[in-house]
Amino acid sequence: MKINGIHYRTVWMEQSVVKMINQAILPHFFRIEELKTHRDTARAIKDMIVRGAGAIGATAAYGMAQVVLEAPDNSRFLEVVLEGSQTLASTRPTAQNLFYGIERVLSAARRAGSTEEARRKAVEAANLVAEEDVSSCSSIGCHGAALVRDGARVLTHCNAGWLAFVDWGSALAPVYTASREGRSVFVFADETRPWNQGSRLTSFELMNEGISHSIVPDNASGFLMQRGEVDLVIVGADRIAANGDVANKIGTFEKAVVAHELGIPFYVAAPTSTIDRNCPDGSAIPIEERSEDEVLYCGGLLENGEFGRVRLAPPGARARNLAFDVTPAKYITGIITQNGVFAPNEILKALAGKG
Ligand code: MRU
Repeated sequence: MKINGIHYRTVWMEQSVVKMINQAILPHFFRIEELKTHRDTARAIKDMIVRGAGAIGATAAYGMAQVVLEAPDNSRFLEVVLEGSQTLASTRPTAQNLFYGIERVLSAARRAGSTEEARRKAVEAANLVAEEDVSSCSSIGCHGAALVRDGARVLTHCNAGWLAFVDWGSALAPVYTASREGRSVFVFADETRPWNQGSRLTSFELMNEGISHSIVPDNASGFLMQRGEVDLVIVGADRIAANGDVANKIGTFEKAVVAHELGIPFYVAAPTSTIDRNCPDGSAIPIEERSEDEVLYCGGLLENGEFGRVRLAPPGARARNLAFDVTPAKYITGIITQNGVFAPNEILKALAGKG
């Protein structure tokens, strides 16, 4: 997508260096990070320099290509490659795309007949994962735009825009497509504590795209729905189980329950790379628990113009920081994929191609 008229992708690779927009300091500072080794790339995923299921998936694929490029051309090649895949796989547990990206590149390298061919195939596979991410999100935009009528007021949670993917995004792609087709769309963006992906990243994207929006406290959107100010909800997903249960940013479940209670359509948007066919239902999805400090402090632009954090809680206070929750399929109106919109309990059909 464009920032001040210049087109950017969220993550890309040049030779053996992975480059990405640093999302931890947006929107106040725009910096491109250069990750020279797979360990640097893994750290960038763990520390959320890059975040969002799709962007994590593409970054993991590029990180896996670095693993293969770095591995010694001797009998330890495969052993070192497998160690590297574990380093990437151990960064964050919930987003299925991470494991999808690693596996796509690892299997391409393993099918190669030589180390040299494995290096070439690994980079090709990583670039293909990124290209498929872009084309899938663009298709999600087209399928989802049909649900966004002129004048629609859309609520979204966390950031499931282009920064959460390589480009376009998932939940915000229908909004971008509808807007570019000339419809007026208004967005309520949950701030999404504690990491504030909504107030920082979603608002940044919508501003750059010229789309009217309001940032709302996470605990306000239920009342906005009750007051009749929301026409539909569109969120992203980090992992979709085979029965249609969906893991997404903490706070998603309660929005789904309120929307269901009030009869407001609740859509999940995600490419098929987010579907985990081996996960029978939501109870089997590993939920990440992150540092308490993300709750006890809040990051942002300080008065001295620097990026910093302030402590919110009293000294010695403790916190729980579950990063994701699970929304049961019964609360979801439909899942928007690149292959069409599917009822949650029919989501595995999306893996078979066009709905
Ligand atoms: O912790 P994050 O920022 O990686 O969580 C991101 C989300 O929960 C998004 O909603 C999700 O990844 C869907 S968009 C890819």
